Amino acid sequence: MSTAGEQAASEAARRRTFAVISHPDAGKSTLTEALALHAQAITEAGAVHGKSGRRAVASDWMEMEKARGISVTSAVLQFAHRDRVLNLLDTPGHADFSEDTYRVLAAVDCAIMLIDAAKGLEEQTRKLFDVCRHRRIPVITFVNKWDRPGREALELMDEIEREFRLRPTPVTWPVGTAGDLRGLVDARHPETMLRYTRTPGGAHEAVEETITAEQATGEEGTWWEQATEELELLREEGAEYDRDSFLAGTSTPVFFGAAVSNIGVRLLLDAVVDLAPAPGPRELETGGSRPVDAPFSGLVFKVQANMDPSHRDRIAFLRVCSGVFERGSTVIRATSGKPFATKYAHSVFGQDRSSVDTAYPGDVVGVGNAAALRVGDTLYDGPAAQFPPMPTFAPEHFAVARPADVSRSKQFRRGIAQLDEEGVVQVLTSDLRGDQSPVLAAVGPMQFEVVSHRMAGEFSSPIRLEPLPYHLARATDAAGGEALNGSRLVRGEALVRVRDKAVLALFPDRWQANSFERAFPDARLDHLLAAHE
Ligand code: G4P
Repeated sequence: MSTAGEQAASEAARRRTFAVISHPDAGKSTLTEALALHAQAITEAGAVHGKSGRRAVASDWMEMEKARGISVTSAVLQFAHRDRVLNLLDTPGHADFSEDTYRVLAAVDCAIMLIDAAKGLEEQTRKLFDVCRHRRIPVITFVNKWDRPGREALELMDEIEREFRLRPTPVTWPVGTAGDLRGLVDARHPETMLRYTRTPGGAHEAVEETITAEQATGEEGTWWEQATEELELLREEGAEYDRDSFLAGTSTPVFFGAAVSNIGVRLLLDAVVDLAPAPGPRELETGGSRPVDAPFSGLVFKVQANMDPSHRDRIAFLRVCSGVFERGSTVIRATSGKPFATKYAHSVFGQDRSSVDTAYPGDVVGVGNAAALRVGDTLYDGPAAQFPPMPTFAPEHFAVARPADVSRSKQFRRGIAQLDEEGVVQVLTSDLRGDQSPVLAAVGPMQFEVVSHRMAGEFSSPIRLEPLPYHLARATDAAGGEALNGSRLVRGEALVRVRDKAVLALFPDRWQANSFERAFPDARLDHLLAAHE
């Protein structure tokens, strides 16, 4: 019988944990469904997201999501493909929820960057790619919507290279222009062409047919010639797939297709298995790293309350980093050093909460009854482990929250504290304001809507929000905070973030921040990680 360490290492080698990053509308939900369809995790596309005319709404829990047709919360899809276990972590698409998206990226080993063929690199793609680069996450690129008019393939490759300083290495290449997709060439088998017959509505896998170069020349003529010439050109320029630079984050294997018709999706799914790295050793805050065969450790990257109205509990999304996770075991929460019993553990695909008894590195489990857990927490067994903290992003929207009904101030305080712990908003206070009227800080204004909605619905304490005229936050310290709060020269104020006690200096704009720097040259004033440039 193998030891737990050996079992963890061999299961980790089978895992691929990844996310799809894209600008809203590039086709992330469609691609997620198409991947699940190819891996036979679902039998018909249309199950994952709830757009008009589609089937069940599996990943949308909250009423608000349904009303808006967007996915606010993250779900995790686990499916098998060719003897591998794939964990696909969904990321919220809306720009306002980018902070949540960034946290999901802390839990993956690879990302698929999805690009709309007509639009190329978009704002949100850039930001998310920056995070991948920062965290050294290897990126596979999928150029989507090739079934409708768009840009030239070579032009898109140039854009990726120029703007991201990332060398594109096409693995598949389109035959035919965007809008007239004849098929694909797999650069590893340039002597054949792949042709697709799509199924009505893209509900099932497209039929894939391999034809010879001779046949392709006869049937596709100049389209085939152009595709092979372009591939040859790229090869001469050294744009061939290279594992080391891909894993180092300096090159990206590129695939083309149309998620809505399931074209090119199988090749992408195979690439996740063949190219994406398996879970490996994870860096520790204290230096060094924890190998996958070490005793259990895991990272909480998301906390979500009330996912299911009939079970009003709090779920922590835990990415297993090393060892074997066993439901029912007692592990240690690194921040407090206290034991935590993992009595309830579920899979976390939308509302499906089937119990999970065992999980391996790369897997994500939803740990229930997790009132004690926070985003960024490390859980471990055996030798102590602490993973680096999650980045928090610079808030740009600020509002004072007050209970609409003062008789419900207890519920108000409880709700605000919980939403802060979940990371739905950042909650700020100061001695000058008192904790009856905390200041809520958000990366995007839609976070405020979620707070209002949940405060009224879940905590029975409707709130009033009064916007504050600040748009810029910098990190300072107690002395800087005092200087700012005592200053008559500068417009702004300093507040303390409840969660981590960081002091934030808030200013209406950059000019006021500069005035502060000139007036108090010794005060600390650091930039925070910007979500919106
Ligand atoms: P998102 O999650 O990234 O926001 O994008 P989503 O999958 O919702 O797709 C956005 C729109 O793009 C959808 O159209 C979807 O059908 C379309 N789309 C996705 N992939 C492709 C593709 O390969 N080719 C083409 N032509 N379209 C694609 P919609 O009209 O907004 O919604 P729906 O009613 O069609 O679902």
